[in-house]
Amino acid sequence: MRIGIPREIKAREGRVALVPAACAELVRAGHEVRVQPGAGLASGYADAAYAAVGAHIVADAPTLYAESTLIVKVKEPVADDLPHLRADHRLFCFLHLAAERELAVRLRDIGLTALAFETLRDGGGLPLLAPMSEIAGKLSVQVGTHLLHQPMGGRGLLLGGLAGAERGHVVVIGAGVAGGAAAGVAAALGARVTVFDLLRERLSAMRALAPSVSGLHPYVDAMAEAVADADLLIGAVLVPGRHAPRLVTRETVRGMRPGSVIADISVDQGGCIETTRPTSYDAPTYVDEGVQHFCVTNMPGGVPRSSTQALSAALLPYVLRLAGPEWERDAALMEAVNLCAGRYVHPAIRAEFEGGDLAGP
Ligand SMILES: NC(=O)c1ccc[n+]([C@@H]2O[C@H](COP(=O)([O-])OP(=O)(O)OC[C@H]3O[C@@H](n4cnc5c(N)ncnc54)[C@H](O)[C@@H]3O)[C@@H](O)[C@H]2O)c1
Repeated sequence: MRIGIPREIKAREGRVALVPAACAELVRAGHEVRVQPGAGLASGYADAAYAAVGAHIVADAPTLYAESTLIVKVKEPVADDLPHLRADHRLFCFLHLAAERELAVRLRDIGLTALAFETLRDGGGLPLLAPMSEIAGKLSVQVGTHLLHQPMGGRGLLLGGLAGAERGHVVVIGAGVAGGAAAGVAAALGARVTVFDLLRERLSAMRALAPSVSGLHPYVDAMAEAVADADLLIGAVLVPGRHAPRLVTRETVRGMRPGSVIADISVDQGGCIETTRPTSYDAPTYVDEGVQHFCVTNMPGGVPRSSTQALSAALLPYVLRLAGPEWERDAALMEAVNLCAGRYVHPAIRAEFEGGDLAGP
């Protein structure tokens, strides 16, 4: 199989799909690997490191796409990527189509096979989303503590508090991988943490993190009350493949204290807070209803060295399977197929775009 690894061109995206050591394994398995110049640089992997393991460094993006069949990248294609894609390409990357309707239509019209990292399900989990969610969860608290500083426009609160001063309150909606990581970091800092989730076992896991963490059912009134008291609100719900359910209204955000902070990690699936709108690392924050919002759609792209290493390790086994002749008999990979030959094929994507019985935003 001819495998192409492009350089990411989304704003300030520093990740690359596979590190040189992963490419070495693909070459050893008999595949041809092509890499666009500079693809790994922001993650600390020079072209020479890819060349040293037998990957071909091609001249530019048009050559890479022209000479490859399987395209393995990190983020969804942006406008300048799209002209390179063809019907015979197999595209494997994050897609988040529920929040990217225009992109979904473009990919459908190109007629290629598109597999989304975020819907690949294996052993009940989402193994390609999980490492990125863990990073985004940890970052949401790191960024949130910084935005609470008064010179950053925050209310001037040390999230963990100290003797003689109150602790900050972190509210997390969704106790999965991202929400769990956020709750863990917030608790370790010493904050008071309230986490909401529909699943009792996730709430138990949150309670087990530290005595300062409460795990609660997301009753509308209980959530509104907690959010009004939050110094840092973190959105981390997921209904795989679907637009995130909107769980916090504008009116509830209006009730938060001025200078509080919202980090909506679920923005890549459209966001679970009414005031959420997607941002990039070029201009990551905005103020709405007196509350600072951080809604970057590619949060792990800000720590590319760590993100690339974690993503590449998770990705390699699936790239090996996808490059093989039996891939259409692979249940995990079939869960990842969102589009094929001009049709939406994933049930959640079909429900999102063609109507269905799953709950919408
Ligand atoms: N912005 C970024 O850069 C970035 C990076 C990584 C992940 N993400 C996103 O973060 C989100 C969370 O991902 P994850 O891997 O943690 O998902 P996950 O499946 O591990 O967790 C999601 C949790 O949401 C809960 N949930 C679903 N509906 C709910 C509701 N109505 N009320 C309360 N809880 C509800 C689920 O029970 C689950 O525990 C996803 O949208 C993912 O795409 C964003």
